[in-house]
Amino acid sequence: MDLRYRPRRLRSSARLRKMVRETRVDKSSLIYPMFVTEGTNVKEEIPSMAGQYRYSVDRMEEKLTELAEAGVGGVMLFGIPDHKDEIGSGAYAEDGIVQKGFRKAKEVCPELYLIGDVCMCEYTSHGHCGILHGHDVDNDKTLDSLAKIALSQVQAGADMVAPSDMMDGRVGAIREMLDSNGFTNTPIMAYSAKFASAFYGPFRDAADSAPAFGDRRSYQMDFHNRREALREVLLDVDEGADIIMIKPAMAYGDLIRETRDAIDLPVAAYSVSGEYSMVKTTAAAGFLDEASIVCEMAACAYRAGTDIYITYFAKELARYMDEGRLG
Ligand code: PBG
Repeated sequence: MDLRYRPRRLRSSARLRKMVRETRVDKSSLIYPMFVTEGTNVKEEIPSMAGQYRYSVDRMEEKLTELAEAGVGGVMLFGIPDHKDEIGSGAYAEDGIVQKGFRKAKEVCPELYLIGDVCMCEYTSHGHCGILHGHDVDNDKTLDSLAKIALSQVQAGADMVAPSDMMDGRVGAIREMLDSNGFTNTPIMAYSAKFASAFYGPFRDAADSAPAFGDRRSYQMDFHNRREALREVLLDVDEGADIIMIKPAMAYGDLIRETRDAIDLPVAAYSVSGEYSMVKTTAAAGFLDEASIVCEMAACAYRAGTDIYITYFAKELARYMDEGRLG
């Protein structure tokens, strides 16, 4: 048959397929989300996230070292405090759980890049991401707390902060607080387009942060919207964000791509707890091959345009990259 173009020619051997691959990935772009809890000698498996654990500060070293040795670029810390209150004061306490976690991580594993998730839902008795006014979160009052949280994390050793609360104006408020305290070089990675997503279910069990009433739809975005997501992205760029994040990752590739095309800043995508647990449970049932799915999900996020990939599979992905299974 007289066919001039035969796309299959470039798929004819493994060597050639690898040569013409369009998406290249690198271990240093992987970030691992990690849960730190009070107590000593705690390494407790999270029931909703098989293979993920809550670590007490004294048990962090083992995991951090593993990650660093695997070549993972950074870690994002989430604190699980013993005590919560109405205003989430534990989030900016000097001896707060995440602050202790940062100090420890800096001491035992200085080669890992440390990122602070700036939010209040793990620390408030009501589980919402800010200061309440009646049954709603008071945006402007919450900004002061968020700026305090960011500063306290940086003072404890965070190299970067990542506000995940979805309040309006928080990137600007945090930038101002960091700058006026001499941290002009500390970057902000904004969870710019963070959607009110059922994919966060397992995380809320892990961090005990489900809202006691209502939901997060008055601050996190409606997943039907893309123009609004781009507007959120541009607002954060304007307020001084250094990196823009889209979250979740898997079902939101269109927005990763649109953001990549719309701005010049690095783009991050967070493959969230629900994505992790869906893979784990389905693989455990024998219905799909875990490693193959994890590689495919990651490659697709990078192909969509992400520069930084935040995932509970970070260590495994680093190994798959070494093995040439993706990128
Ligand atoms: C804190 C926060 C959440 C996640 C990251 N930061 C939970 C939420 O918004 O309810 C979710 C991460 C995940 O599901 O893996 N606000």
